[in-house]
Amino acid sequence: MIFNSWLKFLSMTHESTAILRRHWGLFEPHMDQVMDALYDRLAQSEGTMSLFSGPLSQAKARERQRHYWATYIFVGNFDPPYEQAARAVAMTHFKLGVDLQIYTGAYQIVLEAMTEIVCQHLDGVELGAYLSALHRTVFLDMGVVSALYYESMLERQRSLANELNHALARAGEYRDNETGAHIMRMAKMCKALALAAGCTRPWAEMIEVAAPLHDVGKIGIPDKILLKQGQLTDSERTVMRHHPEIGGNIIPDHSSEVIQMARCISVTHHEKWDGSGYPAGLKGDAIPLAGRIAAICDVYDALVSERPYKKAWSNLEARQFLSEQSGQHFDPELVGYFLELAPTIDRIQGVYRDPMAS
Ligand SMILES: [Fe+2]
Ligand SMILES: [Fe+2]
Repeated sequence: MIFNSWLKFLSMTHESTAILRRHWGLFEPHMDQVMDALYDRLAQSEGTMSLFSGPLSQAKARERQRHYWATYIFVGNFDPPYEQAARAVAMTHFKLGVDLQIYTGAYQIVLEAMTEIVCQHLDGVELGAYLSALHRTVFLDMGVVSALYYESMLERQRSLANELNHALARAGEYRDNETGAHIMRMAKMCKALALAAGCTRPWAEMIEVAAPLHDVGKIGIPDKILLKQGQLTDSERTVMRHHPEIGGNIIPDHSSEVIQMARCISVTHHEKWDGSGYPAGLKGDAIPLAGRIAAICDVYDALVSERPYKKAWSNLEARQFLSEQSGQHFDPELVGYFLELAPTIDRIQGVYRDPMAS
């Protein structure tokens, strides 16, 4: 983490930590008294006290807090175990839903008590230097714990967005005649192609989560068209071609990156490189990269899969088709990367087979 730059920024030098250690002994005998003051204040807030299941859990929390302060913060010890301890503090607060104001508020109470005690023993330059180091060490810990708390919060948001994506994709599978295995293979292929095209790993991992929603708009297509065996008529095809836009209406226009990407893929996975696709007839780079990647993987996997209305093409035939359509249906550069990925694509196909496939 950015921890070392914070240490530098707050001038937590050897002198600062030395002065904290030198005078820790002044404060240590008063710890119980300070803890009492702190827990008296906490007791005034009903919501806070309800976080403790009983006197035992409160005593444990108190002991942990004392250890944390005595081992790390008030002796200026920011070694690697400190980071683990700070992470545990942040996680506990986050899991229990404790507002960080409580955490920072506790420091205010403790700092007041410590200042009062040391003022009785120190003066002049030494007092100034000690108080300065004390405040910087507290700032540092509040910053670190807040950053880690925020990290936990972001992680929960990310996993929530991913879960909602999966749930929506599963809902789509109930309506579509394409299988869950197709969706899984196609998503894995999207990730592999994104990495081959030089996208970052987080972006590639995001497309793997977002791609399964490409056809969620089919939820809005009537059964008699969606499940029809055989060729669609022109008017039925027109209805079917609304599924990207329907997907764009189903997937929320939310700021979460993964949801934005899922929406983008849903809307653009039938666009074609030469501008002859739908719904917008976008051309070339105007089609978002995620949509261009999804188009290749979706078509390829559909071709090599058996469907009630068609036999599976061989991998060679499907790759031949991609080559022929390079620069027409598909982004030529991406087709190049996809063809180079053949062993990976074949492996994905082998691992995630259709349940009924032999
Ligand atoms: Fe589609
Ligand atoms: Fe598909």
